[in-house]
Amino acid sequence: MSDPARSDFLVDRHDLKRTELAISARAALAQNAVLLKVDRFAFTANNVTYALVGDQLKYWHLFPARAGFGIVPVWGFGEVIESRHGQIKRGERLFGYFPMSTHLVIEPARVSERGLFDGAAHRQEVSPVYNAYARVSGDPQFAGKSGDYQALLRPLFMLSFLVDDFLGEASFFGATSVLLTSASSKTAIGLAYLLKKRGTVKVVGLTSGNNRAFVENLGCYDAVVTYDAIEQIPSEPVVIVDMAGNAGLLTGLHNHFAANVKYSCRVGLTHADAEQPPENLPGAKPVWFFAPDQMKKRAQDWGKGIIDRKIDEEWPGVIALFDGATRVEFVKGEDAVRRIYLATLEGKTRPDTGYMLSMWD
Ligand SMILES: NC(=O)c1ccc[n+]([C@@H]2O[C@H](COP(=O)([O-])OP(=O)(O)OC[C@H]3O[C@@H](n4cnc5c(N)ncnc54)[C@H](OP(=O)(O)O)[C@@H]3O)[C@@H](O)[C@H]2O)c1
Repeated sequence: MSDPARSDFLVDRHDLKRTELAISARAALAQNAVLLKVDRFAFTANNVTYALVGDQLKYWHLFPARAGFGIVPVWGFGEVIESRHGQIKRGERLFGYFPMSTHLVIEPARVSERGLFDGAAHRQEVSPVYNAYARVSGDPQFAGKSGDYQALLRPLFMLSFLVDDFLGEASFFGATSVLLTSASSKTAIGLAYLLKKRGTVKVVGLTSGNNRAFVENLGCYDAVVTYDAIEQIPSEPVVIVDMAGNAGLLTGLHNHFAANVKYSCRVGLTHADAEQPPENLPGAKPVWFFAPDQMKKRAQDWGKGIIDRKIDEEWPGVIALFDGATRVEFVKGEDAVRRIYLATLEGKTRPDTGYMLSMWD
């Protein structure tokens, strides 16, 4: 390593538009610890959600920063550049949860042939899924563009899969159509793909005017409607899956469909505002979807590892959809990272682009 310093991209926890670069000297590595170079990571609206709920869901605990600031967690790749752990060698590649930084020190625990966990004390308050690293050296699924798709889409597609599975098991609560807000988001596209494949419900995408043509061209929605035209959607029994988290939009949908809202599933916060939807909305009361509950249920119903196997079966189809409609852009250096971070925060990124970032020039 020619550069001994470590750079962290910090955000003000209470004003996410304020960012700062923290440069610090790298400390000596403790016994059993491993130093990773954070090679590249994906950045989407989902990472902004991690920041928005960082206090409640303890995302800020994963990669500590100075008081009042936080480091947004991202999915990506790291390379071991120094190891004081007997089972982990220099040059090994890991896939998992990283800070928006140049480096990360972890304390490998529960090391197996396929993966390991970071056993650092400050990371133990969050779900183990956020402390797990896959050992991916030499695995073509995690190299090149396939690797970019793993970082960009796999964590999001897990959610798409779980929501589809949950709704399917409940026979869509008697609804004949499913309405997805932020239809241009990667999570919504993955869900629309699975719903359309079932062929049992109509899949309706709601999006902004600017993103309408992109969403229509995907082919995984039966109908696409812009946010200003929800009152023109014919009322029928519907499930709402809300990626946007906008109180006005959700209220408008409940008022329009009223008793025809058979289930209202809150998933995301892409258009989040400070407002909360009123308590007494017409139709089924909105419920936050909690992915770990559905994962736990299916691990019990199906057995360990079966969710991943089922997702693997769907993976080539959904990747073919993204491959045909989107491109991956790789941007390097702290200025470029700040630009994409702020554009994502403000909803100004292109839906046809998946952004892979690196703090390294
Ligand atoms: N609960 C969970 O476990 C879980 C898991 C995965 C994802 N999610 C949530 O699903 C949502 C989608 O995430 P993603 O990573 O798939 O998103 P993405 O691909 O980055 O989607 C971006 C889309 O969101 C909308 N958008 C984003 N920022 C906006 C802003 N500031 N103002 C207006 N519109 C904005 C736009 O869609 P439109 O123009 O179509 O509205 C944009 O095309 C996120 O809220 C994420 O947190 C939740």
